[in-house]
Amino acid sequence: MHQNHSPERDGFASRLGVLAAVAGSAVGLGNIWKFPYITGKNGGAAFVLVYLVCIVIIGLPVMLSEFAIGRGAKRNAVGSFKKLAPGAPWYLTGLWGVAAAFIILAYYGVVAGWTLEYIFSAVTNAFAGKTSVALEADFLSFISQPFRPLLWQVVFMLLTGFIVLAGVKSGIERASKILMPLLVVLILVLDVRALTLPGAMEGLSFLFKPDFSKLTAVGVLEALGHAFFTLSLGMGILITYGSYINKNENLAFTAFQVTAADTIIALMAGVAIFPAVFAFNIEPSSGAGLAFITLPNVFLQMPGGYVFSILFFTLLAIAALTSTISLLEVVVACFSEELKISRTRATIVGTVSIILLGIPCSLSQGVMADFKIFGKNVFDLLEFASSNIMLPSGGLIIALFAGWYLGRNKIEKELSNDGSLSAGYMPTFMLLVKFIAPIAIAVVFLHGMGLF
Ligand code: PHE
Repeated sequence: MHQNHSPERDGFASRLGVLAAVAGSAVGLGNIWKFPYITGKNGGAAFVLVYLVCIVIIGLPVMLSEFAIGRGAKRNAVGSFKKLAPGAPWYLTGLWGVAAAFIILAYYGVVAGWTLEYIFSAVTNAFAGKTSVALEADFLSFISQPFRPLLWQVVFMLLTGFIVLAGVKSGIERASKILMPLLVVLILVLDVRALTLPGAMEGLSFLFKPDFSKLTAVGVLEALGHAFFTLSLGMGILITYGSYINKNENLAFTAFQVTAADTIIALMAGVAIFPAVFAFNIEPSSGAGLAFITLPNVFLQMPGGYVFSILFFTLLAIAALTSTISLLEVVVACFSEELKISRTRATIVGTVSIILLGIPCSLSQGVMADFKIFGKNVFDLLEFASSNIMLPSGGLIIALFAGWYLGRNKIEKELSNDGSLSAGYMPTFMLLVKFIAPIAIAVVFLHGMGLF
């Protein structure tokens, strides 16, 4: 079964396991928490449309490039470039990605911690009888406290660390296979409830009826950045995961399935949230708290809401966990293979330093709110810099590396499993990675940063 992995190298055991783990990385807070709130902030459907275009013409080809690089080299994000391009500086792309993983995990762990608080609130029936105004006030007062969110963040990061320590195969792979489908079923139930609320039509047209006058250059950049973020691209996660994939898997089909699942789940989350936003008179652009404020409202309106609220926040935490694991795995795989230290040491060093960087992110919602760099608090700054600068630039270089450095023959050999699968998509794929994706990324980037 694992003839493709050197004996000391862990890997995924089955096709379903690969899908669950990669989808587990892709589907996370990005889909359920971030997508709705940045859609709200950027005026709705026009933003969604740009995001979908970015997914298809940029996200999918970059994902496939990462898979091909990782499985071809069978190394971590840095080592893969070193192996495929010996003596050349391409490996810096891997380092850039590892740095992005660090930064993302710092603030992602904070939000993941919030989901634990909300499980706690759900279990203790803390939403009962509250108005939407009170739910919003509760959320804001919770995140602005200094200690409680920090405590949850540390708990969440330790959980992530323990699982990563245990290795790739057993825990994650098995858990993801059960939990990911359950998450889909739950969102579906929430969709049905949301669609039967009085604000449903207004919510749906906000999400699906584009008004291009609301779209800004920064909005387009955010759509691109989010396409990278939600698919876990541009930082070597999928190079690392790709290196654990067996030689006989069909990488293109896997990439397609993961992309489709991720996109559908994000849209389903939007459908669960926006009708409720309008039904309960919440500001669609109210920001990071959107999911944490609207969904408790929905639960209060539904029979069995108590149970569903517990289930939902538990699954949200799990969706977040399968993503934080992948983020930490990039760091750990790189540290342990490149610095030749043990996995245990790599995990401890990684987890502790990420927790430390997470502290100012958490405090920036309260006591450090006025500490601003470039007009943003620490949380917003790290979020903006990682998603909108680091991931697209990493993705740009990965596309160029696959398209120009490796070139069609090497890529086709990897994607077709040495010629045993047909790869009729190759001409389109090459066009996308060599020209369209890099140019689109560069244009959106320069425009969004106000550089032209
Ligand atoms: N894709 C994950 C999500 O949407 C987050 C993530 C981003 C994970 C980048 C890994 C890398 O929640």
